[in-house]
Amino acid sequence: MKICVIGGTGFVGTHLITELVSQGHSVKVITRRPERHRHLKTLPNVKIVSIDFFGNKVLERQIDTYDVVINLAGILNPSGKNTFEQVHENVAIRVAEATKAVDTPRLLHMSALNAGENASSEYLRSKGRAQNKVFALDGLHVTTFSPSVIFGAGDSFFNRFAQLLKIMPGFFPLTCAGARFAPIYIGDVVDAFINSIDKPQAYGKNYNLCGPESFSLQELVKYTAKQINSDCIIVPLNRFLSKPLAMLMGLFPGAPITLDNYRSMLVDSVCSDADSSELSVELGVQLHSIESVVPKYLAGKDFAGQMDYLRGKSKR
Ligand SMILES: NC(=O)c1ccc[n+]([C@@H]2O[C@H](COP(=O)([O-])OP(=O)(O)OC[C@H]3O[C@@H](n4cnc5c(N)ncnc54)[C@H](OP(=O)(O)O)[C@@H]3O)[C@@H](O)[C@H]2O)c1
Repeated sequence: MKICVIGGTGFVGTHLITELVSQGHSVKVITRRPERHRHLKTLPNVKIVSIDFFGNKVLERQIDTYDVVINLAGILNPSGKNTFEQVHENVAIRVAEATKAVDTPRLLHMSALNAGENASSEYLRSKGRAQNKVFALDGLHVTTFSPSVIFGAGDSFFNRFAQLLKIMPGFFPLTCAGARFAPIYIGDVVDAFINSIDKPQAYGKNYNLCGPESFSLQELVKYTAKQINSDCIIVPLNRFLSKPLAMLMGLFPGAPITLDNYRSMLVDSVCSDADSSELSVELGVQLHSIESVVPKYLAGKDFAGQMDYLRGKSKR
């Protein structure tokens, strides 16, 4: 199949595209900055294209004749013109309208768990508005995916905490330590996307994506510390102390946490049993635990090493 991916140059996209080409598909990746994504150029049957996304019929010309369009574009924190509204809503609507205009049979769209117009953070509200608008377009075979936090080689979760644990001066004040997550392995997210492509029962549907177990943030950071042999003391902060710290940290460049991130964590990022059974029964996804994956890439590996690990896998 010919598959066009928007937002495919990041963590999720790199894993997804690696698997798509290993299954024999040809992939076009649309990016704003092709020069930054040389790692994708080494893959066979991958074409990287930079376009004026909002130019008249420009996107339509790129996806015309493609069988599937996948939109993964997203940000965790806005910066300059890259606002939540721009990346999550405007890009999503542009992609969906272009996909509809050229009669591409299939659109897969990445959302986030707990996304909704009345959600607790602007990240989740913008994801929710985008999801609703994409579903509202008639004549599209669209499936959306709403993951909890995703882990795997090159992730920004365990890797980020590992980095922070290494630079903290012996103790780590942890905001929203009680917030719960059900981390899902990137390979399982990739399987959900790919297995949904030719499944008519997935049309018009959202899948919540969670791993097999849920943990508090404190448990996950402790687990990370154990993997990298850090004896940093984790100091759990409750919600009331977390808010001012998140506000303060949000002022730093490359903020480890912002007020909006804090607001996202006010609601646990976990799924129901029905969500998990849907994922296994309808999409045939077999979930992996963090213990079966994280030690393979986290301990002692830098990002480049992790991507080598990923490239070395022809097949999971
Ligand atoms: N990672 C997680 O734990 C997690 C959890 C829940 C949901 N998600 C969602 O999954 C998707 C992929 O996440 P990720 O972890 O792979 O993120 P990532 O590594 O930061 O990659 C984000 C992608 O978004 C694209 N992008 C950013 N701003 C854009 C814009 N203005 N126009 C077009 N594209 C833009 C980037 O493309 P270029 O820079 O190449 O143009 C990049 O390819 C996102 O929608 C994210 O919200 C991720």
